[in-house]
Amino acid sequence: MREARPIIALDFPNFEAVKEFLALFPREEKLYVKIGMELYYAVGPEIVRYVKSLGHSVFLDLKLHDIPNTVQSAMAALANLGVDMTNVHAAGGVEMMKAARKGLGEGAKLIAVTQLTSTSEEQMQSDQNIQTSLAESVLNYARKSAEAGLDGVVCSAHEVEAIKSATSSGFVCLTPGIRPAGSAVGDQKRVMTPSQARKIGSDYIVVGRPITQAENPVTAYQAIKEEWNG
Ligand code: C5P
Repeated sequence: MREARPIIALDFPNFEAVKEFLALFPREEKLYVKIGMELYYAVGPEIVRYVKSLGHSVFLDLKLHDIPNTVQSAMAALANLGVDMTNVHAAGGVEMMKAARKGLGEGAKLIAVTQLTSTSEEQMQSDQNIQTSLAESVLNYARKSAEAGLDGVVCSAHEVEAIKSATSSGFVCLTPGIRPAGSAVGDQKRVMTPSQARKIGSDYIVVGRPITQAENPVTAYQAIKEEWNG
């Protein structure tokens, strides 16, 4: 189920910056945005209510990881906020992910983070004492997420094919690290263009700085959206 709108990562430090950014777009242009920890913890749930009141869709990227009961209650609170998609760490386990699903209900998408892309294979083996390859650990977490009834995972676009064959073609792959050809890569290491991401089967792409830091964010957004939709 490919989403036609690229998800814009609203990596801004405060409410004012978000308001200013969203005001650049025509009112009738309904966006899909990602609100992460920085913004959510700085501003609070109000930021989600505000963005939803403008008619935009929200992926709340808080990566929950706690005991099942706590995660279930927290997810119920996020469902009340009207988020369209949110996530947990698959490392919390199948029981935690099932509880998350129960708390959130079926009205919103629920995806899992497998291994963070900032984790190297060496770090995973040493810090987490997981004695397998990073790729195998990602696939294991993807299978566990599917088993728990989640909709999909956050992953590198390079992992999409392997994840879908380990789960199902309908299992959602949401991929950050997207850069239109010729734009600055920044701190992202393994990037893909929107059209490459479409070709390998990404369902959602997340794009931050190539839009938010562009001279003209609206034009940049439209160009990326066009490339993504082919
Ligand atoms: O600015 P940029 O397009 O790199 O932003 C990508 C967004 O996706 C950021 O909010 C970043 O934290 C997030 N992200 C990522 N890579 C992951 C998981 C999340 O870039 N593996």
